[in-house]
Amino acid sequence: MVISSKPVTDLTEDEARAELEQLALDIHYHNKRYHSEDAPEIADADFDLMVRRNQDIETIFPHLIRLDSPSHQVGAAPGAQFTKRRHHVPMLSLSNAFDDAEARDFDHRVKRFLNLSPEENFAYSVEPKIDGLSISLRYENQQLVAGITRGDGIEGEEVTANIRTISDIPQQLQNCDLEIAEVRGEIFMTKADFQALNMAQEKKGGKVFANPRNAAAGSLRQKDASITADRPLRFFAYAAGEMSAWKVTSHHDYLDQLKRWGFKINPYSHRAETIAEALEHYRVIESARPDLDYDIDGVVYKVDRLDYQNRLGQVSRSPRWAIAHKFPAEKAETRILGIDIQVGRTGALTPVARLAPVTVGGVVVSNATLHNEDYIKDKDIRVGDLVQIQRAGDVIPQVLSVNASIRDGQETPFVYPKLCPSCGSPAIRPEGEAVRRCVGQLSCPAQLLERLRHFVSRDAFDIEGLGAKIIAELHQDNLLKEPADIFRLSEHKAALSKRAGWGEVSVNNLLAAIEQRRQIPLERLIYALGIRQIGQATGLLLARHFGSIDQLMATAEAAIGQDNAAWEEFIGIDQIGDSMAQDLIRFFHDDHNRLALMRLLDQITVIPPEAVATNSPVAGKTVVFTGTLSQMSRAEAKAKAELLGAKVAGSVSAKTDYVVIGADAGSKARKAAELGLTILDEDAWIALTQASSSE
Ligand code: IVH
Repeated sequence: MVISSKPVTDLTEDEARAELEQLALDIHYHNKRYHSEDAPEIADADFDLMVRRNQDIETIFPHLIRLDSPSHQVGAAPGAQFTKRRHHVPMLSLSNAFDDAEARDFDHRVKRFLNLSPEENFAYSVEPKIDGLSISLRYENQQLVAGITRGDGIEGEEVTANIRTISDIPQQLQNCDLEIAEVRGEIFMTKADFQALNMAQEKKGGKVFANPRNAAAGSLRQKDASITADRPLRFFAYAAGEMSAWKVTSHHDYLDQLKRWGFKINPYSHRAETIAEALEHYRVIESARPDLDYDIDGVVYKVDRLDYQNRLGQVSRSPRWAIAHKFPAEKAETRILGIDIQVGRTGALTPVARLAPVTVGGVVVSNATLHNEDYIKDKDIRVGDLVQIQRAGDVIPQVLSVNASIRDGQETPFVYPKLCPSCGSPAIRPEGEAVRRCVGQLSCPAQLLERLRHFVSRDAFDIEGLGAKIIAELHQDNLLKEPADIFRLSEHKAALSKRAGWGEVSVNNLLAAIEQRRQIPLERLIYALGIRQIGQATGLLLARHFGSIDQLMATAEAAIGQDNAAWEEFIGIDQIGDSMAQDLIRFFHDDHNRLALMRLLDQITVIPPEAVATNSPVAGKTVVFTGTLSQMSRAEAKAKAELLGAKVAGSVSAKTDYVVIGADAGSKARKAAELGLTILDEDAWIALTQASSSE
């Protein structure tokens, strides 16, 4: 945009209003380009001019300051470069419960897993969920040696110099004799400090932050730690990473130990004897929330006993022993300006409402999902309608309901397209399904671009600097048509450096980021392929089962027709059902997919999954559990077997190594006997796994 050169003092009120509106749109857009998509379109200096102009107009016309004014939202500090470090113990995230019933379900799941009766009670540690950023602090011989951000949970950024400036974080542990202790917790800023910081920033023309969380993140990620030192950051400790020894047996005692070591513990942390008491404490924290001087977005329940935590383990990236009970979503009312159709990487058409920007829970929202065709029809949602929207945590905002009573007749019903808006191919909605899909596959630019975006996304190849805009541009220039092309970009260095807005430095950074990913763990590769229904957890499952991409591909190819051993192998993998198996097979049968994968494999090195355990007698063996176990649940038995490197299958076949039989085992036990397989009772199985654990 062109910034008006008219002095702000000469503006009429109408001109000022119009300019503020345009500035809000533009600043929001460029902010997103810069911070979320890593793809700025304009120079920083031009951006700053826009922010300054906005501020100047607001100073003269304070009554015109908009609800969505960019001066409330301009984002975090520019992404400084920090060294990436792997966590010794992954930093997990929490799954969510959105109401009491879901929290009680969690309690039931835990009891079922531990084979406890539903009436049996055990304690929970209940704590506020602090809305800041988590950090792992490593102490060796009581000395603070490293601070690493969460990152993707596997590796984060080293910010040691910065965290040394935070007074809540001890440089040295008191009353501790451990060789290694990793303490984890949340860095945050109080609401009062946030406001004071923003005022000071505004005064000196610096960046203004959208909320305390962004302010804390921006303050921590400073290349110059003396800036961090000037920012009022705080810390609550609440979890452990690597520990050379454990001196406590419950989470609550661990929190007490953290206090003795010199940390601050959230004062609302509470030991509840039952889930009912935990829910009561949720209410206590919920009613305290408005008066707290820091943001919280829910309450965390943690199984208190550490031996239980150990047995429960984790599923995918979250512990089975903890859950976040979120506060109800925030709602707001705004108008639908238009409805766009987005085409996803699997061809699914998704309607998205473009909204008049509105602040919901501290964040400006200008898009919300409308889910699918029927959702729009059932709620009779029209362009121009006043609607209620809701935003819950990090979930995409959604349109909840229409305020139809105040329509003025200008609202237009939406006609759902039958053709793909990107490539014009038919968009088909199979009988009984909610989703309409473009049939264009990779000839559809939207699907192709979405697949490429998914390919480089954080949990897949994680290539920094290759944002949506750059992918689209490189595609336009014929430099990027398939994943393998990413690894050939270095051959086009000269052409890249000549691109408008690209300098030698950014090209070098991008190529270096790409080089770093030429080696890729198998589970990431499988996830990156973007096969329908195959998410991260399934990617890992498949990686562990097949061990190599060749083996996965060969089995998928052999499984066509379904009436064969390869098909049995797929659906024999626990958690893989018919429909997932079909999607996998369909993917690897497509010539185009297979050839594109071959070309990609020429460019990269695939790292086989880390063997969970290789020295246990059950490593690499296939185990089937059947009947009712008495000392543990089936789920616990399965989790333990997988930790020891075994594969757990759902059905007995000639490939099964062990069949573990509990009470009332039926047809599977008979089949095992017929096939002459090794049959173990529960005690024999436990003896075998304990022998493995003590090695
Ligand atoms: S425990 C293994 N406790 O929530 C469990 N997390 O979605 C590790 N968080 O990344 C987390 N307050 O940043 C735990 N009292 C609390 C928390 C808390 C905030 C954040 C943390 C984590 C995220 C998980």
